Amino acid sequence: MTLHARSVVTAAGVSEEIFDEVLDRVIQSGDVKIWKAQEIANELQRNELRTSGLDKQTRPNESAMGIGYGKVVLLGEHSVVYGRHAIAVPIPITVRALIEDREEGIVLMIPRWGVEYELAGNVTERRSFERPAGVILDKLGLSNRGMCIEVFPDVPRSMGLGGSAAIAVAIVRALDRHYQIGLSDEDVNRLAYESEKIAHGSPSGLDNTLACYAKPLVFRPGDPPLVELLNIRKPIPAVIGITGHEGLTAKTVGRVREAWQQDKKLYERIFDEIDTLVLSAVKAIQDEDIKALGELMNVNHGMLNALQVSTPELEQLVEIARKNGALGAKLTGGGGGGSIIAVCDGATEPVISAIKDAGFQAISVNLGATLDGS
Ligand code: MEV
Repeated sequence: MTLHARSVVTAAGVSEEIFDEVLDRVIQSGDVKIWKAQEIANELQRNELRTSGLDKQTRPNESAMGIGYGKVVLLGEHSVVYGRHAIAVPIPITVRALIEDREEGIVLMIPRWGVEYELAGNVTERRSFERPAGVILDKLGLSNRGMCIEVFPDVPRSMGLGGSAAIAVAIVRALDRHYQIGLSDEDVNRLAYESEKIAHGSPSGLDNTLACYAKPLVFRPGDPPLVELLNIRKPIPAVIGITGHEGLTAKTVGRVREAWQQDKKLYERIFDEIDTLVLSAVKAIQDEDIKALGELMNVNHGMLNALQVSTPELEQLVEIARKNGALGAKLTGGGGGGSIIAVCDGATEPVISAIKDAGFQAISVNLGATLDGS
């Protein structure tokens, strides 16, 4: 189905810029036809839906969709895996999922990524990429139902923006809606955490918590974890710079673990230092002192360098952001590729332009601003 839809959209002559969006909409419409792809492309090109902000509201089945949010870690990634605090903020980039009934078998489709496979009912036969979704279905007792799970990710894959957790939350919420299970937010978060454990090995729980609650949070893992709402009174102008190089969180978390196992004393000290920065940053945010926050982020980036999870591209982006007026810039998420987050004093435009001029992608976000539907 996905492959067929991709060739239909290609045959319709749809430009690369809007290809993914047209593909999603063609599949959602149920009319996988060249004329339909052209109709949707024309609609988008006229820019009517995009500029009016009606695009999301008018998609078919939108109300039946489950949503999970992407996030940025402002400070504290990696050390949070070792029981320290982290600050993370949701971003208005989401993953949506939709369940449709099927005679039998469970099909998972991510048209944008060209993913389509049937999930093995038997746990032991599942391939590694089937397991994160599989564990959710098992825990909800839905593994024997016939369904198609369609996933529409706007959060880019492996870019340190919480994509896998957002997928898990979107799927859990979509299943909850479709089968009217009545899950609480805590249930959704718990199930997404189970899925994250399969995807990443030893996650702190930060990403799924953000994807689920979609609020700025101070987080510290534990049983139960500390999850405190962070009040950002005045949204903070920021830029996400995306390297385009995949950063695999499981890999960088594994790397840090190996180093920690070699010299626990040294690495515990680094984690403690980062924790101090995080707690100072909470105060800086509460005092609306963005200059101080920026400086703390810069120092946190230095510590992440000490953990060896940065890359030349991340360094380049951090440098560009700082040179073009950002008050602070650091890698965000697992590193090893992925993205940076830079906070700005007012206009983000110079940072955005400089990042784009260097051939990378940049997104302007207002950290702490109210998100749609949260
Ligand atoms: C979170 O986005 C990134 C890491 O801290 C891993 C985790 O918290 O599970 C590196």
